[in-house]
Amino acid sequence: MHEFRYKRGSLCCEGVSLESIAQRFGTPAYVYSHAALMDGYESLDKAFAPLPHLICYSVKSNSNLAVLRAMAKSGSGFDIVSGGELRRVLRAGASPRKIVFAGVGKTEDEIALAVEKRILFLTVESPAELELIEKVARRRGSVAGIAFRINPGVDPHTHRYITTGAAENKFGLDLGSALEAYNKSLRMKHLLPIAIQMHIGSQITETAPYVRAIRKVRPLLQQLWARGINLRFFDIGGGMGIVYRKERPSTAESFAAAILPELKSLDLHLILEPGRFIAGNAGILLTKVLYVKKGAVKNFVIVDAGMNDLIRPSLYGAYHEILPIRRRRAARMHADIVGPVCESGDFLGLDRTLTRPVAGDLLAVMGAGAYGFTMSSNYNSRRRAAELLVHGKGVDLIRARESSEDLMRGESIPAFLR
Ligand code: LLP
Repeated sequence: MHEFRYKRGSLCCEGVSLESIAQRFGTPAYVYSHAALMDGYESLDKAFAPLPHLICYSVKSNSNLAVLRAMAKSGSGFDIVSGGELRRVLRAGASPRKIVFAGVGKTEDEIALAVEKRILFLTVESPAELELIEKVARRRGSVAGIAFRINPGVDPHTHRYITTGAAENKFGLDLGSALEAYNKSLRMKHLLPIAIQMHIGSQITETAPYVRAIRKVRPLLQQLWARGINLRFFDIGGGMGIVYRKERPSTAESFAAAILPELKSLDLHLILEPGRFIAGNAGILLTKVLYVKKGAVKNFVIVDAGMNDLIRPSLYGAYHEILPIRRRRAARMHADIVGPVCESGDFLGLDRTLTRPVAGDLLAVMGAGAYGFTMSSNYNSRRRAAELLVHGKGVDLIRARESSEDLMRGESIPAFLR
């Protein structure tokens, strides 16, 4: 459910006006709705109720500690890809038995931390990694739960940068080598193969690619059973798409309706790893208009948030709706909405028609709750934005805007330059 709505001409998040947030905390700022986050999680949890399942919220989409805490409190598990994410979710109160760890390049230290904390499983993405996990677990005298990530070779019909389950991608093992990999892991005393994992891509709006992928992987499960390898979990990854513009993505219900029949007879615990589905439309980027400039062929609305704050438009050509915080009656204009960064690729929206803003007006970049702040940077020595969490009529600062000192932390001038 959308928690960003106009009330008497002013855009609000739940019961709080975004104008009041800008006044109190400044811009640019990320604003998240607690209710929307919970709604995303609960809708999936409810839709998959007929099957034993665990939702492992994908931390990379929005990793603020408060967001993670909210997810942990609602019973969610976590999909992580680094030691940094592992430390975050533990700090947020995650149960280690609900943490799954993917990623093609886990370091020995990261593996050691995961083994020490006894997370549910590590997803193995190559034979060399298998050896390393065994070595680390042996050294600690423990047994690590593992899954193999299978690359089912399906096209999820999404942006090529966020396709992960096609044959040419770097992720996982191809189906042909999976059986041998499981067999090999059985001979390793410190590994326990308990799951199979796949993740075919992101912002997938159809259910068909998931169904195709599951059907391709199912015969492997049968082969594994035949050899006495009884897995407990089938992790189908994340990737469920959301509405940014006019997409018609599957809902939690339609997604479950397509997936459940495919898994019913398997007697496995299902794991889902949604990130965007939960966080994407639960957040916006609040920004202020600095200048309105008439160019020779184009108009520009220059705002105080740039590609360092939200890189999705520049990196993927992603569309994010941009709405005025206060609806006004004024002439419309056609313009690019651009940031202050010194790159022509620094834009939040191109060729938009909007009510002609004036300097000081506030805008909301919608659908920025996932892969917004987490992909932000300090490019141009810009301080990363503040993050706020709205809960009913209340708002909490959940990450302070960076200071100029933060920007230079850890840097030093060597003696020979002094
Ligand atoms: N599980 C694994 C193993 C993943 O690699 C990902 C995302 C997810 C789950 C969560 O996917 P989601 O449900 O959020 O689609 N930066 C890009 C998206 C990259 C996704 C990377 N992997 C974007 O802004 O669109």
